[in-house]
Amino acid sequence: MKFVTALRSVGCAALSLSLLSSLSTSAPAADEVNIYSYRQPDLIQPLLDKFSKDTGIKTNVLFLNKGLVARIKAEGENSPVDLIFTVDIGRLSGAKADGVTQPVASTTINENIPAQYRDPEGHWFGLTTRGRVVYASKDRVKQDSITYEELADPKWKGKVCTRSGQHAYNIALFGSMVAHLGEQNAEAWLRGVKENLARKPAGNDRAQAKAIFAGECDIGLGNTYYVGLMKTNEKKPEQKEWAAAIKVLFPNAKGRGTHVNISGMALAKHAPNKENALKLMEFLSSGKAQEIYAEQVFEYPIKPGTEPSEIVKSFGKIKADKLPLEEIAKYRKTASQLVDKVGYDNGPDS
Ligand SMILES: [Fe+2]
Repeated sequence: MKFVTALRSVGCAALSLSLLSSLSTSAPAADEVNIYSYRQPDLIQPLLDKFSKDTGIKTNVLFLNKGLVARIKAEGENSPVDLIFTVDIGRLSGAKADGVTQPVASTTINENIPAQYRDPEGHWFGLTTRGRVVYASKDRVKQDSITYEELADPKWKGKVCTRSGQHAYNIALFGSMVAHLGEQNAEAWLRGVKENLARKPAGNDRAQAKAIFAGECDIGLGNTYYVGLMKTNEKKPEQKEWAAAIKVLFPNAKGRGTHVNISGMALAKHAPNKENALKLMEFLSSGKAQEIYAEQVFEYPIKPGTEPSEIVKSFGKIKADKLPLEEIAKYRKTASQLVDKVGYDNGPDS
């Protein structure tokens, strides 16, 4: 089995439990589909189990922390991977640009996933969305609405916290600002946000909620699902306090809508089990599968008419920016250059 041989070289630490169990049973190749995933195995396993139960097709998941595309490139034509699971438009469009994906033309998938959340050429597809929202102090921020533009307003001087401007989540948001405002205005905006920072950008999205809880800043940028993850974190219950200190504001709710990003999938260029992979892709695109997935990860299922989890609903209704993600992907490089140009990650000048 090609997949087994290829996997032996990566060491056991990277192998998920589902994969290990499949290695021992050695199902025939024809009844398998091989997945490389940046998403934690426990998040996708319930869905994969349901797929296997319905179809009899076994799924093998290799979980990776980094180097997914480099690995597929190195494997070349002998790569055992059929399907790629990842998050962020940057990674999905990057996989296409790096030539490790192939196009899929499926009426079922195209009917389930709106055009703004898939590649026009069929190289990648969104499964769930996440909003990039403002975390605001319940105690110190009175307003219940905000715009991204307003983050540059001097009234927030010394009150804004974010993670690094170069992180993929911020790059996608800043790319959307370039698309909407034009490069010059987006640069001026980013300079304004930088001058409002309470400190040098640091930490992950949850760290911004923690900083608000600690009184270091009043507002921060973060993804919606982290609020759900913090509220339900039994292993680190202090995160429940961070989540309790903030409210979710959906930026530009009265205008063009809130910037959203996706988790998604792509068919690998040399997929050896292409037919099985297509079956899995169609299954995953269904509204029911998206809802199960979204419930696990506190994201929004993409198919119109589907519902997120109760916790996510409690944030209020999201109105998503209609800008196609393909457009945002085009401005990622410009956004990254602007972050360097304004010295965003150095924090405020004064
Ligand atoms: Fe994340």
